[in-house]
Amino acid sequence: MRADAGPAAPAVLRLPGHEFGTVAADLVQGVLSSTSRPVIGVATGGSPSPLYRELAARGGDYRAVTWFALDEYLGLPAGHPQSYAEVLRRELIDPLGLDPRTVHLPDPHAADPHDAAERYEQRIADAGGVDLQILGIGRNGHLAFNEPGAALDSRTRVETLTEDTRRANRRFFPTLAEVPTRCITQGLGTILSARRLLLLAQGPAKAEALHRALAGPVTSDCPASALQLHGDVTILADAKAAALLP
Ligand code: F6R
Repeated sequence: MRADAGPAAPAVLRLPGHEFGTVAADLVQGVLSSTSRPVIGVATGGSPSPLYRELAARGGDYRAVTWFALDEYLGLPAGHPQSYAEVLRRELIDPLGLDPRTVHLPDPHAADPHDAAERYEQRIADAGGVDLQILGIGRNGHLAFNEPGAALDSRTRVETLTEDTRRANRRFFPTLAEVPTRCITQGLGTILSARRLLLLAQGPAKAEALHRALAGPVTSDCPASALQLHGDVTILADAKAAALLP
């Protein structure tokens, strides 16, 4: 390797959508079996669903694992079905038979959400950091809810969702007006501190964002371009999401 070589480029695996679950689950189980007290970062949204379904189908003993969500909406009542606490209960905790105390999310009901964000960042650090962070990508290039303009070294904080992200997530809510406008999100710096990253991208709506993230410059304008700064990134992309990649 040249002395001035940067981090290894993200490895892009082009796969048919039906293989996402098995390939991603193999990767997760590889990390679980090589780590004594694994810490897994989990995304919500549609992208990781095949992985969670596959992990549930395989069964397994997850008692040693600690899980951290990427983000949580602010402004939803406790128990709202689209809060990420509830989404993770439905998609991860119940199907995998996890102890809910091992699955951490930022507290959206804290008196001061900024404090809650700082405490969350600290909890991740106290757990020894994340071994494997699972990610989706927004069609505007966001990672977690780090929207365009987010600092590449940002940490967990309160953020405002862009209209584009609210419209993309409208499909989970009865009306656009009910999609929250604010959230607590891990920062790009928080995500880059994870030892390994796994991003899942399916469908044509992700093609431009994935191209900008991997083939464009590293810039806050495309938060997912921060992936280029990390030396251990695996990307699963179907043909439509990978369509614009070289
Ligand atoms: C979810 C998250 C978001 C999503 C992204 C893609 O916890 O942080 O960054 O990963 O918006 O969403 P989907 O997978 O629904 O296309």
